[in-house]
Formats: sequence, structure tokens, C-alpha cells
Amino acid sequence: MFDLKPPDAADKAALYADLHSAADALTRGESDAIANMANLSALLWQYLPDLNWAGFYRMVEGELVLGPFQGKAACIRIAVGKGVCGTAAAMRETQCVEDVHAFPGHIACDAASRSEVVVPVIHEGRVIAVLDLDSPLPARFDSEDVQGLEKLIAKIAPRLAEAG
Ligand code: SME
Repeated sequence: MFDLKPPDAADKAALYADLHSAADALTRGESDAIANMANLSALLWQYLPDLNWAGFYRMVEGELVLGPFQGKAACIRIAVGKGVCGTAAAMRETQCVEDVHAFPGHIACDAASRSEVVVPVIHEGRVIAVLDLDSPLPARFDSEDVQGLEKLIAKIAPRLAEAG
């Protein structure tokens, strides 16, 4: 059992420092990518306030396929280049969207979502997945969130790759 206690969410630097240690401890020595994505989704859901969806889409045969997540049931397949997730995968760059209604081609899985951040997971030069966080609040994610999430994903990416 993991009894994790996130620090005060108002102190984002402390929150992300703690999140990084918890994520490292939870995934260290575990090579199963799905298990690690499942635990990371749960961790992000627990640590970051004001989310209505947190999870992964995995790159499977050139298409993003729904992976482990927390939140409401979501669309299963997203083509590379489509929506916020597909754009992050195609551009290999984080997409931080303050207002999803203003993002051309945004795919509305949960009507409550107002803002979204998607970080591509790159391992050995390939996009192997994307991390997707949604919030019911407009402009929920700022540059500190983007930095914190990118750093987390850069460190954990090898543990999110299929073994062998
Ligand atoms: N909004 C995403 C789709 C995934 S859901 O938010 C879980 C997109 O536009 O790619």
C-alpha cells in the first residue's frame, strides 16, 4: 500500500518536487509500462487539484490508443495530428490549451473540460505515448505545470516503454 500525502497545492514548486519523488519511487524497478502508467495516472489525479481527467494514450501501430487513466470513460482511438493529443504527438511538443473550445479540432471526451495539457512521451527518439490532463477550469495549467510535467515525463519515459 502507498500512503502518499501531497503537500499544499498552492506551492507548485514543492508539489512538483514531491510528485517527482513519489513517481520515481512508485515506478523504480518496475518494467511493465501499463502498470507504471496506471500508477502515474492515480498519482497525478491525487496530487494535482482541479482535474477531471488524467491519463495516457499509447502509440499503437501509428495511432494513439486509450491507456490507463482516471476520470470518465474517454474516446479510444485518436489519429496522430487530430485533437490536442494527436497534435502533441505529431509536433512532438507539449500542447497547453487555455480554452479547449478555441482549439481547432479539439476532441471533447468530457463536456466538462475547459483547459488541457498534453505532454508527448518520447523514448529513444520515438513518441511512445502522450500524457493528457484535463481540467473543468479555464487556463488551469501554466508554465510551471508544463515544466513540472515535462520534467516528470522526461525522467519516467524509459519506464513507460514496453519492455523488450
Ligand atoms: N481532448 C483530447 C481527447 C482526449 S480526452 O480529453 C480524454 C484531444 O482533443 O485530443
